[in-house]
Amino acid sequence: MYESFPRISRLPPYVFNIVNDLKASARARGEDIVDFGMGNPDRPTPRHIVDKLVEVAQRPDTHRYSVSRGIPRLRRAICNWYRRRYQVDLDPDSEAIVTIGSKEGLAHLALATMERGDAVLVPNPAYPIHPYGFVIAGADIRHVPLVGESGDFFAELEQAIRNSWPRPKMLVLNFPANPTARCVELGFFEQVVAIAREHQIWVVHDLAYADIVFDGYRAPSIMQVPGATEIAVESFSLSKSYNMPGWRVGFMVGNQTLIAALARMKSYLDYGMFTPIQVAAIAALDGPQDCVEEIREVYRRRRDVLCDGLAAAGWAVEKPKATMFVWAKIPEQYADLGSLEFSKRLLIDAKVAASPGIGFGEYGDDHVRFGLIENEHRTRQAVRGIRQMLRRGVAA
Ligand SMILES: Cc1ncc(COP(=O)(O)O)c(C=O)c1O
Repeated sequence: MYESFPRISRLPPYVFNIVNDLKASARARGEDIVDFGMGNPDRPTPRHIVDKLVEVAQRPDTHRYSVSRGIPRLRRAICNWYRRRYQVDLDPDSEAIVTIGSKEGLAHLALATMERGDAVLVPNPAYPIHPYGFVIAGADIRHVPLVGESGDFFAELEQAIRNSWPRPKMLVLNFPANPTARCVELGFFEQVVAIAREHQIWVVHDLAYADIVFDGYRAPSIMQVPGATEIAVESFSLSKSYNMPGWRVGFMVGNQTLIAALARMKSYLDYGMFTPIQVAAIAALDGPQDCVEEIREVYRRRRDVLCDGLAAAGWAVEKPKATMFVWAKIPEQYADLGSLEFSKRLLIDAKVAASPGIGFGEYGDDHVRFGLIENEHRTRQAVRGIRQMLRRGVAA
């Protein structure tokens, strides 16, 4: 059907749609499905941010086209956020850009920088825009396996660099990671920057889960590494930290050449976000941060209910130190099914929707991902359904 649209034909059918379709049919039959499928925050945006949007939207002077790279005050707020959190100094004019959600920024950075046939290193499993932003731009993906907490990422990375021709142009990273919830310390980024400088590879780091951290863990920024701005950019999203997924606000900071390339691309494609949204984003970044603590606490409690409940039901899963996801290894007795069939079983037998790991890449096929977007009560209901399914056993 898409033979004459090569860019579209390079995009495989969305695996998640298979589970989504089954979920929709089950719901149409009247079944109550507990849905952990998507990383779509379920709680409202904090009041003071919504109020700021409403206030500014009342002003007629805010209704015109905005500024594609973001209004200067928001870019200054972004740089202040970096200084407060990470003691990193960035120039709001040349080292920061506002994006229409971080997804938009990542995809258009790929389009701005990639030529057909360029090689890009992307961990596998990964959040789909990390490989597919680059696939859409015409690049070839070199997968770097990201398996197990103990897997040697750097050995895999060096091997992928050695085996790649043409030489990889860019490396995409995301820690705390979606879907694996894997976390790193600052030393990890120091090593990344050293390798990237040695091989002259640009680095794009997605820090979407910077605030969704638990048990005392603090997520480092790659910008904390001296010299990082020579080769790296980092993106952040307000979607998770401030429950603003529908608003589409994010930003990217770091290397001036990459930021300028993205700004140039965006100047042809958009007129920037609605100004009241940008002013509300300033209220989020500069305003009281206790709402972030509350949001974090909601995810932590749900995480504990899900992980402790599954463990009690006989399915031991690792408790993530960060993100809004539980990356659960498929129980031994179901391992042969693979993640798509196992997700179907969860849906039909336990009335629970989870994302099959294969949707994030072939190295994810022995896991499923639970997004912590159902409240504690419904999470308990899901655990009961799963416990009953496990009791009935594989043959059921
Ligand atoms: C790792 C990661 N990056 C980016 C995004 C999307 O963020 P935004 O809403 O800013 O586009 C998500 C959303 O799930 C994500 O998990």
